Amino acid sequence: MSKHSNVNAIEFSSGGLRLLDQRVLPLRVEYVDCRTVEEVAGAIQSMVVRGAPAIGITAAYGLYLAGQRALDAGEVDPHRVVSLLAEAGRRLKATRPTAVNLSWAVERLMARARSLADKGFGVADLVRALSEEAQLIHREDVEMNHRIGSYGASLINDGDTVLTHCNAGALATGGYGTALGVIRAAHEQGKGIRVLVDETRPFLQGARLTAWELVQEDIPATLITDNMAGYFMMRGEVNLVVVGADRICSNGDVANKIGTYSLAVLSKEHGIPFYVAAPWSTVDLSLESGDEIVIEERDPGEVLGWGDLRWAPDRVGVANPAFDITPARYISGIITDRGIAYQPLAVSLKKLAEGGGQCSTSG
Ligand code: MRU
Repeated sequence: MSKHSNVNAIEFSSGGLRLLDQRVLPLRVEYVDCRTVEEVAGAIQSMVVRGAPAIGITAAYGLYLAGQRALDAGEVDPHRVVSLLAEAGRRLKATRPTAVNLSWAVERLMARARSLADKGFGVADLVRALSEEAQLIHREDVEMNHRIGSYGASLINDGDTVLTHCNAGALATGGYGTALGVIRAAHEQGKGIRVLVDETRPFLQGARLTAWELVQEDIPATLITDNMAGYFMMRGEVNLVVVGADRICSNGDVANKIGTYSLAVLSKEHGIPFYVAAPWSTVDLSLESGDEIVIEERDPGEVLGWGDLRWAPDRVGVANPAFDITPARYISGIITDRGIAYQPLAVSLKKLAEGGGQCSTSG
């Protein structure tokens, strides 16, 4: 997961996939084993594994498991396997619609499978290739996060207090994290930083997961409820905000965990730099603006209480959008593995897409 931690969110072996159960952290460290694509889809939907890059990686392994099952069942027609994979891919993509990493990973594996089937390779070769491609996506994600970390750390000064929302850490990725990767890298460079952690209602990814990661790394962290952010900003106690992303449009609009938009507006009001950190697999240049992003609506039970505990009357109406859209104008920059895109984001993102260069760009 990180240099210091020996817990992995996603572990793959020939026997199947082992996922750290993020629903019960930090109270218990438990794992969920998945051997079928249906089990993988269930794990993504129920948030055993969550975070845009992590669900993409998990879905890739899920597709491999679907291929392996077909091979084990004696399927010999590679084109028939491609059809089965397409069906499995649709099931995986339907689990959580907002993060583009999931469909990106599924499409990447599907392209590999189709191309091998068209070239006349057999089912065993095709399934081996799916396994290799899924593991490559996993490895690449960790590498991208380290690059994001080193770009992003340059934005953080010694002694800064950095506010983050949700969990964009090792748990949400193949390892190291995006927003938390930036924070980790600054800490590793010896900058004496402090992190303000939004608890992130209703699923508490901040309180349960980000706080857990930071404590494990001995990075000074202070947990706050989401509605305290403005208070600390007004007192001048926040130097920079960095969050992750689930989808980034070509105009620079960003979908991320519900509450991100409010933080961005507050940051602008207080003149605090607001950064988004994400791998290029989160950038969806096919969408012009955030208006086109589908926002996942989750179970009302997540807002009504936690587990068996209920603190609101059952018959009250509940809204539970899992994400919101932050318009590009509120964002100081997007830290990617290809460099940092500054305003105007549409121009900078296009430059990074074309050049894939490693340097910062400023419109
Ligand atoms: O509902 P979740 O926990 O999957 O939401 C996660 C987030 O919104 C993260 O900020 C985002 O996926 C980036 S994770 C590197």
